[in-house]
Parts: sequence; C-alpha cells; structure tokens
Amino acid sequence: MCGIVGFTSLKTPAVGPLISGLRRLEYRGYDSAGVALESSDGIQIYKQTGKVAELDALLRQSLSPEEGGRATIGIAHTRWATHGQPTKANAHPHVADGGRLALVHNGIIENYAALRAGLEKHGVTFQSQTDTEVLAHLIAQFDKSADFLSAVTQALKQVEGTYGIAVISMRHPGEMIVARKGSPLVIGICDGQTVVASDVSAIIAHTRQVIYLKDGDVARVTPESVNIFSLDAMPVSRDIQEIDFDATAIEKGGYEHFMLKEIHEQPDALKNTIRGRLDRSEGTAILSGFNLSPRELAAVRRLVIVGCGTSLHAGMVGKYLFESLADVPVTPEQAAEFRYSNPLIGPDDWVIALSQSGETADTLAAVRESVRKGALVSALCNVVGSTIAREAGRGVYLHAGPEISVASTKAFTAQVTALVMTALKLGRTRRLSREEGIRLVEEIERLPELVASVIERSDAIAAIAEKYAATNDMFFIGRGILYPTALEGALKMKEIAYIHAEGYQAAELKHGPIALLSGKTPVIALLADIPGKEKTIGNVQECKARKAPVVAIVTEGDDDACAHADDVIAVPRTSQHLSPIVSVVALQLFAYHVARLRGCEIDQPRNLAKSVTVE
Ligand code: F6R
Repeated sequence: MCGIVGFTSLKTPAVGPLISGLRRLEYRGYDSAGVALESSDGIQIYKQTGKVAELDALLRQSLSPEEGGRATIGIAHTRWATHGQPTKANAHPHVADGGRLALVHNGIIENYAALRAGLEKHGVTFQSQTDTEVLAHLIAQFDKSADFLSAVTQALKQVEGTYGIAVISMRHPGEMIVARKGSPLVIGICDGQTVVASDVSAIIAHTRQVIYLKDGDVARVTPESVNIFSLDAMPVSRDIQEIDFDATAIEKGGYEHFMLKEIHEQPDALKNTIRGRLDRSEGTAILSGFNLSPRELAAVRRLVIVGCGTSLHAGMVGKYLFESLADVPVTPEQAAEFRYSNPLIGPDDWVIALSQSGETADTLAAVRESVRKGALVSALCNVVGSTIAREAGRGVYLHAGPEISVASTKAFTAQVTALVMTALKLGRTRRLSREEGIRLVEEIERLPELVASVIERSDAIAAIAEKYAATNDMFFIGRGILYPTALEGALKMKEIAYIHAEGYQAAELKHGPIALLSGKTPVIALLADIPGKEKTIGNVQECKARKAPVVAIVTEGDDDACAHADDVIAVPRTSQHLSPIVSVVALQLFAYHVARLRGCEIDQPRNLAKSVTVE
C-alpha cells in the first residue's frame, strides 16, 4: 500500500535518503512514485509511473545540482491507486498554492467529493482525480492566514476518513508537518536530521530511535526538533522507542526473492515464536502478554477470531484448535464482514485479532468494535508497536522477524503456532490433561526441525512445479483442520503465480465445482495422515475419475495416500494440530516455484499491497 518518506537535515541533501527510503517501501506494493524538494527556487516536483528506479532515473536526468539537488528538506511517496488511475497526474506529491505547498498522503478522505465541490466553488482548479489533492488545497487555504501547524490542523478537522500525511510549504521553509489518523507514521530521530516514514523499514538505515505517532497526533518536524500536538494544538508527549531489528533483516541475504528467504526463515521464526513460552513440566504455554488470569480464561464462553487474507486462514485453523483442545466454540470472522455486521459479542467473548502488519484497516476496526462492545480483546501481531497491537492492549507478538514479501508465509506459520499455544493454555484451564498438554508441548518443540525438513525438499517440489507451471486453473482440497490450508495454498498460487486457484472442503467439490474438472485442472489434495484422511482419499478418487491430475501432500511413509496421486510431496509426521504448518510450507514452495517458472514478479505481485491500510 502507499508509502511515505520525509527527510529534513541541517546539511545532507534530501534526494538520496528520500529515494533510498522509497526503495525500502517498495515491498508494500505501489504503482507510481514521486518526490517534492524544497529548494531556494521553490518546490520541485518529480513524479513517475512504475518503479522507484524510473523515478530515480528521472531525477538523475532532470535534477539540477543547484536547485533540488541541494535541497535538504523533501517528501516522497509510493502510491497504490485508490481514487483515479495510476498516472503521473494522480501520483503524489500533490501541490497547491501555485506550487508553494506539497503534500503526500496515505489513507482515504471519505468526504473528498464534498470538499472538492466546495473548493471548486472558490475557484480552485484540480490537476488530479485523487482525494489527496483536496487536502493539499484545503491546507493551502488556511496556510495563507495562519502558522503552518494550525493551517494543517484546521484542514484536518474538516476531513472524514483516514490519513498519514507529510506537508512542506515555501511559506514556512525548513519545516515539515506530519499527522496521522488510521494510517501509520513513524518519526526517526537522528543527530541534525529527522526522517519520517509510514514504515520503520525506511528509517532504520538512519537511526533506531523512533517515535510512533498515535491517531490524532500532528507533529512539527525540523532537523533538530520534533514537537507533537493534538488536533487542538495541545502539546502531547510520546516516548522515543528503540527499534529492535537491524537493516540486514530486510535484505534478501542471497536469496532470489524475499518470499523464498522468508520461507527459509520459518524454522528460526518459529523458534522465536515459541521461545520461553512453553512449560514442559505442566504441559501448558506461558503467554503473559494476554494478561488473563486462569479465572478470566475459564470464564471465556466463545472465541471470535478476526483477520483478513492469510491471517483469516490462520484464524480458521484456530477454530479446529480451540474447539478440540479447549472445548470452546470459535467463530472465525473476516474482519470487514465482522465490523459491519453489528456483531453479537459481549463480556463472555474473547476476540483475537490476527494481523502480521498490525495495520490492516478492517482488522483494526474489528478490534475497535469489539473493545466498544465490552469483549475481551487480544491481538497476535508480528509488527511490534503496530496500531492493532497497541489498541488491543494485550496480546502476543509473533517475533517472526520482518516480512517483506507481499505474499505472507512465515507470519502464517507463526500465527498458527501462536494459536496452538493459546489453545493449549486455554485447554489446560479446562479439560485438557497435563499428559496431553506435555505431548503437545513436545510436538511444538519439534516444529522448527520438522519445517526445516520440508524446506529441504524444495528441489523436489520445484521438479513437480515444472509439470504444472503452464496450468490455468487449480483446485486445492482439504478436510477439517487442513481445509484452511487448502484455502491458503490456493491464495498463494493466485497472488504470486496468477493462476486461478480455488480452495474447497474436500467433500464440497462434488456439489458443483467438480463440473470444472478435466485433465487440465490439477487438484492439490491435502492428505496428511490425520483423522478424516480416508474420506479425502475418497474425494481424490472422484477427481481422478474426471481425469484431474492429483498432487498430494502426504505424511512421509504413508503409501496408502501416495497410491492415489500422480505426484507426491511428503511432509513429516506430526500431531494433527500441527499438520497445517508442515503442509502449508510445501504449498508455499509449490506456489513459489510455479510463479518463478512463469516469470512472475514474486515479491511485488500486481495489484497487491503488503499492508492494506484502506478498507
Ligand atoms: C496474502 C497476504 C494478505 C494478508 C492480509 C492481512 O499473502 O499477505 O492476504 O494476509 O492482507 O494482512 P495482515 O496480516 O497484515 O493483517
């Protein structure tokens, strides 16, 4: 999704840090990029559709060293189109006041049509179709008669919707105003310079000392100072925090793609998710971040797990985990559906929000709705300090390390692992015995090594992928706890290989979709050796009878399951509760190799964004 970088320094030219910051944000997904530099001759704007590399080339060709090249303050943006096509005109920064003011914006201004009509009545002409340009003109109107900060706050008070913004103005040289509501903004504090970004990845090359703005914060930023205020211009204080990962964590480290690197990181990621959280002697998990007493846990009557995309699939696995380990009914909910459904939840319900980024707009809204309705609310997030983590107030971090690839991999396996531990903890406040708990703890401890052994099969999976890389349609089928894994396998195939892929409950195929099966529609069957496998084998037979080639994910040594497939990917034996984790790693690699063979842009798939901060 859109990315913001702002830079202001006592002596360092801004253009280099702005471009390298944009490169750090490329993984979020975008379709155009732009830069505004405040030079002695006025604000210089450079925009380009396509990649940051093309913007960089444009700057090298057109930026004169005397003008923009020396500018020590500037703002930059990568845009993921919402209002208006991905054109140069719609790319940010947007300008107003005859080019004296420039603004970059993430989020959506919901009342932009009314605001635009009002501004047009006053003679303002627009250059773009975006909602953002409205805000630039609105601020410019107040900027003529007020100090910069209050011009911005007065304009923001008229805005309905979400924003993370950075603004510069020739009327206030050397000053940048930034603000957030519903769209993240982080300020990096360095000696003699200040960096602003929508994501810490664009900051860590400069400093580890950051301030996370909260919703409603507006900050005046100069190279040597950061002053934060509320929208009513009351000073507020925010802690400076230390970022705990280094720049190498977001480099490709010799892998061809971030996705492949992140698939390979899973054994370590899972070690970090698990570390210090298992109590072998009592057969339970220690998840103090939930901050729930045994009495509170015992009082939970129902669980609602909310999330989107891959996180939703992890939540759907959670249903099987909690219902079988803790005897608690679970409703997994797509966060956008949940937030608008006037959900029936209350103090007996425990709402768990799943989000890698911790910034997904719909999941955040679901958290707010649940807090409003008095439910217990927790979050499982990967990004430390993210908005969902902060607003849920209690929860557990995944500690999977930064996930850069748009297609989520290690976050999914870490989420499911965290849910297994949560279900274990909840189960131990109920009927799950110590012995059963100890057995599960031992299996969880083996998980990193089991996942590593699936990754070792990458070449064999690549060979199978070669047979199917030219396919147009695929079906993924699974039963019970492996059904959400089928959905996740299909999602990976869609988003990175651009193959139409559908995930189904194995038994559901014959209720309609089987009409589509032929020799050209491979079926990927999740056949790990768990209860119900025989039934899925029956469904596989139905597919084979329609000539569909079958790729089966089976448990090592399970000859019976192998006998029904054209191609087999074996995964190690583990408890049924952990079978989605080992099986999904095989599907991640399968999708990755198919996408690679098809020459797809794996880390930045078309139309997609890493963090979906608009609803
Ligand atoms: C798919 C993918 C998305 C995200 C979804 C939620 O590979 O990455 O489906 O899972 O946008 O994102 P988070 O987990 O950040 O809330």
